[in-house]
Amino acid sequence: MKTIVLFTSNTGFTKQYADWLANDLSCPWIDLSKTKRVDLDEYDTIVFGSWLMAGKIKKGKQLKSLLKQYQEKNWIIFCVGRTPMDQIDFKSLIHQNFEEDLPSSVSFFYLPGGFDIDRQPAFYKWLLTRFKKMLSKKENKTKEELQIEEMLSCSIDLSDPKYLSPILMQIKEEILPVKF
Ligand SMILES: Cc1cc2nc3c(=O)[nH]c(=O)nc-3n(C[C@H](O)[C@H](O)[C@H](O)COP(=O)(O)O)c2cc1C
Repeated sequence: MKTIVLFTSNTGFTKQYADWLANDLSCPWIDLSKTKRVDLDEYDTIVFGSWLMAGKIKKGKQLKSLLKQYQEKNWIIFCVGRTPMDQIDFKSLIHQNFEEDLPSSVSFFYLPGGFDIDRQPAFYKWLLTRFKKMLSKKENKTKEELQIEEMLSCSIDLSDPKYLSPILMQIKEEILPVKF
């Protein structure tokens, strides 16, 4: 059984998880922000990793088109965000990103990444700094605004290879032949 890891990453947390996975599985990986077309014919299991922006999976459109094109494959989707594992609302995350229920061939995981303003590309850094200033002046902030304010207040790294265990277990269980 052949596996490949596809990913996109803005500041490196998703890339780190993709690296850990590809190393553990000794499988190839593709950075989707550098490669436009991917040929996945030869693979049985496709792992897709991306980061969350305002609750949405980046490259979600490309993901959906690949899911359609390669619907007979086993899919593992993981998304990475600043939200700690115990605060993630898994159901609404799926609901926000997929119109229908995920097919049974697709497994979905959330992995805590982190946040680092200094690792943001220039445009995001400028935008986020302005947003932070604007929020600091605002009164009666909404729950979402308070969450964003907290996110912007400090850098944090929540990533840990331990969060990959369920993904690795699932892939390895499918790969390993059943022993009698
Ligand atoms: C504009 C913006 C919006 C974000 N929205 C969310 C969000 O809705 N939920 C979340 O958990 N993290 C959110 N984050 C945090 C990123 O998902 C987090 O930093 C992630 O680890 C980035 O992964 P990367 O390093 O692979 O790019 C946001 C970050 C930015 C810059």
